[in-house]
Amino acid sequence: MVIDRIDIVGCGPGALEQVTPEALCAIDGAEVLVGAERLLDLFPNSQAERISVGADIAKALDEIAARLGKRKIAVLVTGDPGLRSLARPVIRRFGRDACRVIPGISSVQAAFASIGVDWYGARILSAHDRVPEADPAVLVHEEKLAVLAGNSESAQWLDGLAIQMGATHAIFVCENLTLSNEHVRRVDDLKIMTLASRTIILFIRKGDAL
Ligand SMILES: C[S@@+](CC[C@H](N)C(=O)[O-])C[C@H]1O[C@@H](n2cnc3c(N)ncnc32)[C@H](O)[C@@H]1O
Repeated sequence: MVIDRIDIVGCGPGALEQVTPEALCAIDGAEVLVGAERLLDLFPNSQAERISVGADIAKALDEIAARLGKRKIAVLVTGDPGLRSLARPVIRRFGRDACRVIPGISSVQAAFASIGVDWYGARILSAHDRVPEADPAVLVHEEKLAVLAGNSESAQWLDGLAIQMGATHAIFVCENLTLSNEHVRRVDDLKIMTLASRTIILFIRKGDAL
């Protein structure tokens, strides 16, 4: 690990067993860990300085800038860095050459694995931090759709999507994947459902397998 480069480390969906050896090695060598509290908590034995990232991303980027070139920095992200993570603002601010991206197991991979369906050709949408602009009447043409959920603001949009897709697609709610409270179930709709903050909803066109 070098000090003028930032390691952006995919930490998987939550369980320590799903953190790759390469990710563990980077975290082990880091002098500064930057990430959400629950990711920092995954590595209690690290002696590194801990910078907890909340809603204020700009502040976290300034904290990284203040240490870059002086200390070995690892930015921890959930799942894979390539999917709706802190990797994007970090790379935008510091440039790709200043970053090494270490892949992780995405929660979307874990969701498809949990129901034994491959994810080739799947469309992925995020309703995690915003209400998606995608029109459910268009999405109904997808074979497989994975929605990053868990934000109450998107609940109404998800309800509408489930109503639109319910006749043609099987709906699976995948909560807290890989964790001790993992809960994966097939449902008919999403009405009045409070979802865990870590939830993937899968819509799979009904066919031979479902
Ligand atoms: C900011 S996005 C990060 C996605 C991450 N980069 C990935 O590859 O999984 C956060 C969303 O990931 C999903 N997520 C993360 N961990 C999860 C888990 N253990 N079980 C279900 N969904 C999870 C949820 O949809 C959550 O709203």
